[in-house]
Amino acid sequence: MATATATSPGVPPPRYIVPLDADKYGLDDEESAFFKKEMGITDDEQLKQHIIAVQAEAFSIYPYPCIRRFAFTTLKISRLPAYPNLLKLGKEREGAIFLDIGCCFGNDVHKAIADGYPIQNAIASDLQQGFWDLGHKLFNTTPETFPVPFIPGDIFNPAHLQPAEPFTAASPPPAPAPDLAESTRMDDRDVLSQVPTFLIAGHETTSTGTSWALFALATHPAVQTKLRAELLGHSTENPTMDDLNALPYLDAVVRESLRRYPPVQSTGRIAAEDTVIPLDKAVVGKDGIRRHEIRVSKGDWIGIPIHKLNTSKELWGEDGAEFKPERWLAELPEAVHSIPSIYSNLFSFISGAHACIGYRFAVTEYIQFPLWTSKLDS
Ligand code: HEM
Repeated sequence: MATATATSPGVPPPRYIVPLDADKYGLDDEESAFFKKEMGITDDEQLKQHIIAVQAEAFSIYPYPCIRRFAFTTLKISRLPAYPNLLKLGKEREGAIFLDIGCCFGNDVHKAIADGYPIQNAIASDLQQGFWDLGHKLFNTTPETFPVPFIPGDIFNPAHLQPAEPFTAASPPPAPAPDLAESTRMDDRDVLSQVPTFLIAGHETTSTGTSWALFALATHPAVQTKLRAELLGHSTENPTMDDLNALPYLDAVVRESLRRYPPVQSTGRIAAEDTVIPLDKAVVGKDGIRRHEIRVSKGDWIGIPIHKLNTSKELWGEDGAEFKPERWLAELPEAVHSIPSIYSNLFSFISGAHACIGYRFAVTEYIQFPLWTSKLDS
């Protein structure tokens, strides 16, 4: 059985403890349906006996009046007017955290997750671990099957909310992150199925791109000297990403390399339906007809010339085909802003629903690679 922790107040004298009363039990239809589904119980009487048994255990940890009146079976958060917004936030904003303070046995957390809130973004907190453990008993779950982290403690205690410095490489957390619950780990098959992503989409692209970046530096000694000077002027041997991100010329060289030498030179799409693509500027076709739009039929293949767009003189100016990092330190031509892009007006990672998912990782690799070149003798 769970035991009271240091956050437990002193147990009141027996004369103040009002005995439990099964007549206080009473679920409405929604609560009854919710608990039956979550607990895997179909019978009303069995549900009642199960809840009453857990209540008795909880009352022996500490006789809170709310336990006596079955508050842990009341759906509260889901009945607030803002509840649909909570669910919307969980679905639409990546990483939005739902922190339930005073979560009791976790009934509202269970409800939000049952309604679609991402379980990996939910955190529960209350005074005592024992009540959370009883929540697992109540819902017939385990920390593996319901892996919501629980933080025991008193939220009104300033020490509990003490701001802490973010962890960095120089001041890492005192203990490594705990292993993921068994149920949320990737099995060998899942891990293997990620390999092609890293090898083909991730490795080939970045290694080709950084090779071209080295080529560009080798063929533009003035750029190389300027970049070396910026890197060697940095005061530390082991700069953090923040340090590197603050180096303007390095940033300009990375962007220019990705622009002038996009590792994926072109790609394509097959039209899923008939459509019309409007044109910014009219074109005259081989048939001599001037067109302001292009009609596309379902099944047509459309080539997407990434390299051409990245180096187009119309968009980037007369020097569009040259390797010139300085362009990023000045005002970019207005036309460049019309390029659909997920990174820096560049089409290198394309755009839209199937744009590159690894672009931040790739840019980080680009930012890191000139570091070792700066350590070589010139
Ligand atoms: C400089 C390096 C990279 C470049 C230039 C690049 C470029 C691209 C481009 C152009 C696409 C769209 C292809 C298409 O749909 O026709 C794409 C898709 C993708 N990229 Fe990257 N990529 C790079 C690095 C990475 C890395 C490091 C990863 C993962 C670790 C990655 C993972 C992916 C994945 C999974 C897709 C498919 C996305 C989807 O279809 O929804 N890429 N990449």
